[in-house]
Amino acid sequence: MTAADAVIHGASELVVGPATGTAEGSHPGADGSPADPDDVLERIEDGAVVIADGEVVAMGSTDEIVAEYPAENAAVAIDASGKTVLPGFVDSHTHAVFAGDRSDEFAAKLRGKPYQEILAEGGGILRTVRACRDASDAELLELLLDRLDTMLSFGATTVEVKSGYGLDTETERRLLEVVDRAAEMHPVRVIPTFMGAHAVPEGESTADYVDRVIEDQLPVVAEHAVFCDIFCEEDVFSVEDSRRVLTAGREHGLEPKIHAEEFAHLGGSQLAAELNAVSADHLLQATESDAAAIADAGVTPTLLPGTAFALGTEYAQPRQFLAAGSEVAVATDFNPNCYAPGMEFALTLACVGMGLSPAEAVRAGTYGGGLALGASRSEIERVPTGCGTLREGAPGDVLVLDAPSHAHIPYRFDESVVERALIGGEPAYRSRAGMEVDR
Ligand code: NIG
Ligand code: FE
Repeated sequence: MTAADAVIHGASELVVGPATGTAEGSHPGADGSPADPDDVLERIEDGAVVIADGEVVAMGSTDEIVAEYPAENAAVAIDASGKTVLPGFVDSHTHAVFAGDRSDEFAAKLRGKPYQEILAEGGGILRTVRACRDASDAELLELLLDRLDTMLSFGATTVEVKSGYGLDTETERRLLEVVDRAAEMHPVRVIPTFMGAHAVPEGESTADYVDRVIEDQLPVVAEHAVFCDIFCEEDVFSVEDSRRVLTAGREHGLEPKIHAEEFAHLGGSQLAAELNAVSADHLLQATESDAAAIADAGVTPTLLPGTAFALGTEYAQPRQFLAAGSEVAVATDFNPNCYAPGMEFALTLACVGMGLSPAEAVRAGTYGGGLALGASRSEIERVPTGCGTLREGAPGDVLVLDAPSHAHIPYRFDESVVERALIGGEPAYRSRAGMEVDR
């Protein structure tokens, strides 16, 4: 008999990770064989999982597991009968550190005003930049911590956060220091990305600003980030600008990510393949040959259905990437243009808008998200191996759902089914603790 930090037992469904029999990193059907989209997760009925020293040490059927790890010996014991247990969601693409209010732009977009026109007039990202430059560190930190609370309540246990609302060395550094501080203070695993190349600041030329990002910002901010990202888009940064910034980022130890083919088809996904980027994100306009290139290069296509929902545009096409052999990630893109902090809603949209099955959506929001943050790349130490699964050695990041199967996540799209979250085996969230209804 062995003592453990946490034993969660009796789950009606324990989701361990991608279905066995399919090589991890290759989706069933990738080789052209028909795959059952409902069967892409390895699930154990009446399952149990054990966490010690922050990591999963055992999982399997409850009978076998509790014989070895009795629940009464554990610091935390959870009876999950009637409930679903799965890996915490990995939200691999967010812009969650920002100040200001852009709700009036939402109304303008509903009247038909395009996102890029708002940006060209100094609104959009540039407006959030002004708000962030005016905000104190304490205000930015408070805003980010509150948002992380909300994101965790919707099941995200790992959250990537990009800078990019500073667009000068001082504010980009401040934003990333705020992210650092939040990472220390909050139980969620926070993964920082430098995105100085998010927009061209007002009054500056693109060429000069790209030089500023490379020569001034990168040397100062690199120690605070894991990844370097860029908005490769018509009238923002070209493929050549992106190659320069991402190559310079790598020289400072930051692995590349890229916002690619969101509004226009520019070639960002081919660049992602050329640079072996960790992920290429958005991809609404990506072609079959883009999908083939990023699959061959091991770049994780990251789809952000909340953004298409908020903009009222077509969704990205996940089948294109799955057929090419990629593992797809789904993330929130939480930002002032897409005020959507919850992974549960992102997974609903992945199903209803993009045609994934609930099992495929859950796989994309857990294992796929882990890959999009480099969980399988040894050079990326901040993101633990196995992140987004509950296999032995994976981080003890676990959700308990008040629901009998994973399908309830996208199905019950206007309520959260997340009842509890553990991060590194430590209790990090419990729902409804403060709810009071008079009746
Ligand atoms: O991923 N496309 C560029 N960046 C963000 C939007 C940021 C904003 O509008 O504030 C995105 O959608
Ligand atoms: Fe984004």
